[in-house]
Amino acid sequence: MNILVTGGAGYIGSHTCVQLLDAGYDIAVLDNLDNSCEESLNRVKQITGKDFKFYEVDLLDYEATDKVFAENKFDAVIHFAGLKAVGESCRIPLRYYHNNITGTLNLLDIMNKHNVKKIVFSSSATVYGDPHTVPIKEDFPLSCTNPYGQTKLDIEYILKDLSKSDPEWGVILLRYFNPVGAHESGMIGEDPNGIPNNLIPYISQVAIGKLECLSVFGDDYDTKDGTGVRDYIHVVDLADGHIKALEKIKDNTGVFIYNLGTGVGYSVLDMVKAFSKACGKDVKYKIVDRRPGDIASCYADPAKAKAELGFEATHNLDDMCRDTWNWQSKNPNGYKG
Ligand code: NAD
Ligand code: WQD
Repeated sequence: MNILVTGGAGYIGSHTCVQLLDAGYDIAVLDNLDNSCEESLNRVKQITGKDFKFYEVDLLDYEATDKVFAENKFDAVIHFAGLKAVGESCRIPLRYYHNNITGTLNLLDIMNKHNVKKIVFSSSATVYGDPHTVPIKEDFPLSCTNPYGQTKLDIEYILKDLSKSDPEWGVILLRYFNPVGAHESGMIGEDPNGIPNNLIPYISQVAIGKLECLSVFGDDYDTKDGTGVRDYIHVVDLADGHIKALEKIKDNTGVFIYNLGTGVGYSVLDMVKAFSKACGKDVKYKIVDRRPGDIASCYADPAKAKAELGFEATHNLDDMCRDTWNWQSKNPNGYKG
């Protein structure tokens, strides 16, 4: 199969490209490098020893995206491209709605035109809002608390409507929990711009000495130690979920929805402890006020992905921290060298 990977230069996209190439898929990557750089793709080529086409194209540029489809015969698209910072989406919502939704509408229109009707979409556990109970199943009520999350929910509805209108479409919505970790080579990993928003990138920059101290956002939640609980999943497991999703839509049409998580929740303090063990030094932290919009606990029921895709996460918390630290210590300034 020949797969177009939108957003393939990014964190999850680059790891998925490695897995796709290792599994024998042909790929092309489309990315505008808004939140990534081409070096990640050079590293993907080094890891796999395989070459592929890269198009520096913005999905908002209809003509350029159309040209990519005219030059290739794709069987399916994995659609990672999008902006993802929750706080930024509250400050500049129109940019988020335009980039994520208009970009996706352009992509779908062009796919239709070129008769490419299979798509795997990067959704998020954020579409469950503040769940009434955990673990979270795919049929739980959906809601959103920020513009970023709303774009994910809107795109889910767009894809469901498209599939209803044309039964030839095969759509998989993958709702990721909290992706962390890096490829075991330490050559690719998460490379946030500026001060990280997410926990593990922040912890690893404290450990490497770029940041002074982790602020733990609240210790008065109704959780085992009062800090927020999340379902952290190794990015290599997540990438594997995309291979399983492609196998599923190869011969199926309709819409399929899966949680990609481990089913295990860890608190912020669990993560600090595990990371300190992995890097061999204490990660300094202080307790501060809750972050507005955060929820107490969020972890997946991963049973449906296991039953229908044969997907199961195999990396544990120590693997996640070890591989994050391996990437961070080999690349203290990310891809910038
Ligand atoms: P990322 O920012 O590293 O990768 C996204 C890529 O998309 C970047 O390389 C960026 O340059 C590209 N891009 C953005 N807008 C584009 C456009 N208009 N045209 C072409 N390229 C564009 O993010 P990631 O962590 O790899 O996330 C990938 C996807 O998974 C995103 O859709 C994100 O919303 C979703 N997701 C991420 C997480 C997470 O915590 N990382 C969790 C759930 C869902
Ligand atoms: C994890 C825990 C924080 C930073 C976000 C998005 C979600 C999805 C994944 C894309 C929470 C605590 C964090 C810090 C802290 N992305 N924390 N100090 O909020 O679960 O999910 O990323 O779809 O949509 O909302 O992830 O890593 O930011 O936070 O104490 O400096 O760590 O309060 O309990 P979150 P996170």
